[in-house]
Amino acid sequence: MTRADAGSRLLDGLPRVLAGDDPAAIREAAALLRSGELVAFPTETVYGLGADALDPAAVARIFAAKERPSFDPLIVHLAAATEVGNHADDADASDPRVARLAARFWPGPLTLVLRRRDHIPGIVTAGLPTVGLRVPDHPVALALIRTAGVPVAAPSANRFGRVSPTRASHVVRGLGSRVRLILDGGPCRVGVESTVILLAEGRAALLRPGGVPAEAIEAVIGPLEILPGCAAGRAALAPGGSGAHYAPGARLEIVDPFGPGAARRLRARPGERLGLLATSAAGAEAARAVGGPFAAEQVLAADGDPVTVAAGLFEALHELDAAGLDRIAAQPVRAVGLGRAVMDRLRRAALHA
Ligand code: TXA
Ligand code: MG
Repeated sequence: MTRADAGSRLLDGLPRVLAGDDPAAIREAAALLRSGELVAFPTETVYGLGADALDPAAVARIFAAKERPSFDPLIVHLAAATEVGNHADDADASDPRVARLAARFWPGPLTLVLRRRDHIPGIVTAGLPTVGLRVPDHPVALALIRTAGVPVAAPSANRFGRVSPTRASHVVRGLGSRVRLILDGGPCRVGVESTVILLAEGRAALLRPGGVPAEAIEAVIGPLEILPGCAAGRAALAPGGSGAHYAPGARLEIVDPFGPGAARRLRARPGERLGLLATSAAGAEAARAVGGPFAAEQVLAADGDPVTVAAGLFEALHELDAAGLDRIAAQPVRAVGLGRAVMDRLRRAALHA
C-alpha cells in the first residue's frame, strides 16, 4: 500500500466523538479550532460545524465539508454579548435594541444580523456588509468558544440541503470523515435553528423564523418587517432562507389529516413505502383511520404543542430517513410561536420533492 492509500484510508475513517463535558475534550477541540481545523459541537438548537471565524482558510473547509454554496453566509458564535462590539460596527452595536434583545434572549436561539467590522472575512458573510452574531445557550458551546478564544463560525453540521443534526450520531451519519472531532452534548433542547433578525441601519426584519418566537421579539423591540416567505426572492438579505432545505431522502408532502383530500394523499400506493410524521396524537389517529399503511411513523407531541414538535422535528426526520421511505406525509401545525419555525422547515423540506 502506498502512503497516499494509507492517507485516504485514514480520511475514510469515522470522526472521533468525545464527551462534551470533559474539559480535556474541550481543550483538544479548542486547539483544533485554533489550528484551522473543523470541530462539530452541540448548541441548544442544532449541532454546529465550527471553524475559527477569523481564519478564511478554516472557514473555507466548512463550505467544502458541507458542499455548501459560497453565497450562503455563516453565523458567528460568541461567548458573551459583550463581544458584539468587537465584530459589529459601532452604530449597530450601540443600537439600544441590540442590548435589549441580548439581555432578554442571550445566551439563546437568536441571531442578530448587524453591519460588520472589516476584520470579518468575506467568506464568512458571503461578501455581505453584515454579519450574523449569536451567543448559544449550551455549556459545551460556550466552553469551546471561550477556550478557543476566537469567534466561531458555524452552520448546522449537515450536508447542504439536508436535515439539521440534533444528536452527535446525526453528525457522524451526515458528515462522516469530513469532520475529525465531534463534541457530544446529547440531544439538542430546542431542535430548530435560531431565529435570524436583521437589525442593521435602523431596520428590524425577520430573516428566518426559529427558536425564539417572532412574537416574543416584537414584545421587546416592536413590529418586525416580515420578508416575503421569510426571504424567498430576497437572496441578498437571507441567502440561506430562500429555498429548499432540510430534505430527508424521501419526498416530503405536507398533508393535513383533517383536511380535504387527506384520505387520497395519506394512502400508500402499491409498492410505495409511505411514512407518517404526525405533530399530534389526534393527527396520527386521524391519519391511520383514513390512510396507510405506514412503513414508519413518528408522532412529535401528544397534544401538538409546538415547542415539543420543534424539539423533536429533525430527530424524527432523521429516523424516517433511516427507514428508507419513498414518501413522507407530514402533518402541519399552526404557524404561530415556534410553529412558524416548524412550518418554515417543513415547507422547505417539501420543496426538495
Ligand atoms: O441555530 C443556529 O442558528 C445554528 C447553530 C449551529 O447556531 N446555525 C445555523 O446556521 O443554522 P446555518 O448556516 O445553517 O444558517 C444560518 C442562517 C442562514 O439562513 C443565513 O442566510 C443567515 O443565517 N445569515 C447568516 N449571516 C447572515 C447575514 N449576514 N445576512 C443575512 N443572513 C445571514
Ligand atoms: Mg443549516
